Amino acid sequence: MAKYNVFDCSIIELDKHHSDRKGNLSIVENGKTLPFDVKRVYYLYDIPGGEGRGAHAHKALEQLIIAASGSFTVTIDDGTCKRSFFLNRPYQGLYLRPGMWRDLSDFSSGAVAMVFASELYIKEDYIRDYNDFIKYRHLIDNE
Ligand code: TYD
Repeated sequence: MAKYNVFDCSIIELDKHHSDRKGNLSIVENGKTLPFDVKRVYYLYDIPGGEGRGAHAHKALEQLIIAASGSFTVTIDDGTCKRSFFLNRPYQGLYLRPGMWRDLSDFSSGAVAMVFASELYIKEDYIRDYNDFIKYRHLIDNE
């Protein structure tokens, strides 16, 4: 099992085409923009003020998270270190490696969190209990 830390996760700048009068357009393309091929796209929206999302880790899934609208904070945790990323630009995405606990918080009104994922939805890929996550990290970090 590949082990990554929070410093293996980073902001990816997307291609941005802009027109002075007609606004902007950004692109996510398989084989070009991302280190993985996209099998699934989902998005979080209508999140009430003060609510948090995420609170889980994935064993194998890779993701790119974009604030398609508004802003929010993604805090990632590899069991040893934590990093927080404030996302507020539709042309920037946070690339998440597998094995990161993530908390999404501080959603602005109208925020849309767009997620590009490397796999279809697989329930067994989730770790939803933080103590189980820490045990899992100990296991893979000591392999
Ligand atoms: P959940 O993972 O709890 O969302 P969050 O990332 O905010 O914690 O997902 C909410 C519900 O949606 C849950 O019942 C599972 C379902 N779901 C799918 O059916 N397919 C998907 O691709 C995703 C991401 C979630």
